[in-house]
Amino acid sequence: MDTRVKVESLFDLDLWSAQKLSLVEQALDRWVGQSAPASLTQPMRYAVLDGGKRLRPMLVLASSEAIGGNPRAALRAACATELIHAYSLVHDDMPCMDNDVLRRGKPTVHVKFGQASALLAGDALQALAFELLTPADDDLPESMQATLCRLLARAAGAQGMAGGQAIDLQSVGVRLEEPQLRHMHQLKTGALLQASVLMGAATGHAEPSAYRALGDYGAAIGLAFQVVDDILDVTADSITLGKTAGKDAEQDKPTYVSILGLERSRGYAKSLHAQSVSALKESGLGNCDALYALADMIIERAY
Ligand code: IPE
Ligand code: IPE
Ligand code: MG
Ligand code: MG
Ligand code: MG
Repeated sequence: MDTRVKVESLFDLDLWSAQKLSLVEQALDRWVGQSAPASLTQPMRYAVLDGGKRLRPMLVLASSEAIGGNPRAALRAACATELIHAYSLVHDDMPCMDNDVLRRGKPTVHVKFGQASALLAGDALQALAFELLTPADDDLPESMQATLCRLLARAAGAQGMAGGQAIDLQSVGVRLEEPQLRHMHQLKTGALLQASVLMGAATGHAEPSAYRALGDYGAAIGLAFQVVDDILDVTADSITLGKTAGKDAEQDKPTYVSILGLERSRGYAKSLHAQSVSALKESGLGNCDALYALADMIIERAY
């Protein structure tokens, strides 16, 4: 009998995430927009609080739990990944990028506060992420702080999210081949999701083989997540998504659906899910219930 399936079926992701995310919400509420001018505090808090699936924080916390990491470091890392993500959404929605008016069921930050405030709120959220990882008033080992900063910086920058976004903008109206599209998705979305998993692992002492396996898991679900985002842009409505559906085709963006079609995109997402599951099986880690369940959750949205 496959004990993993048995354990997974007993694991309640909703319960687990409700417990974990209440800590994340409280921490974000405490940390975001303190001691800043109100004109900056308001758009920062608007961008971060009250909305979003909080997938990146959940991945950090699940991965930290799998390796028995430091919970205080994990909470800081969880919030830091969400701040980078929220900043990327604020900028992604601006008129010079995707020009979106709806995000997380609300008007986008630039619509509500103006473009200059949106730009600055994004800048400040990015800096705050690294501040949270380097606390003066918490005794996290300095080598752990440095590792967390390195993983996050790399995932956010030119070799990660920002680089992927640059390729995305260059690719409007261009017919990419699948390997080029995969590269773009790995950078713009996959890198931060993979970093979330690795940052969770960096809050403790993972064996090199477990760390590698978690990296493989993160890469697979990171890419799967953007494939599913491409699918949902076509199959879901704006109310469900909390953002404008059908934007990719309208803006002539290359996506998995535009290149492979809907059914092959779903099949690809499924095969990435299978890769993520085998990576976890090979990790040798015992407490991966939340990581398995998060991989399932990512894929289930496509059906
Ligand atoms: C949307 O991310 C942008 C992508 C990277 C595809 P999410 O779907 O995680 O957005 P929220 O955080 O739930 O709003
Ligand atoms: C965004 O990709 C990835 C980011 C780095 C923010 P999309 O442009 O597809 O995200 P949505 O669909 O607007 O959320
Ligand atoms: Mg975009
Ligand atoms: Mg967009
Ligand atoms: Mg999208």
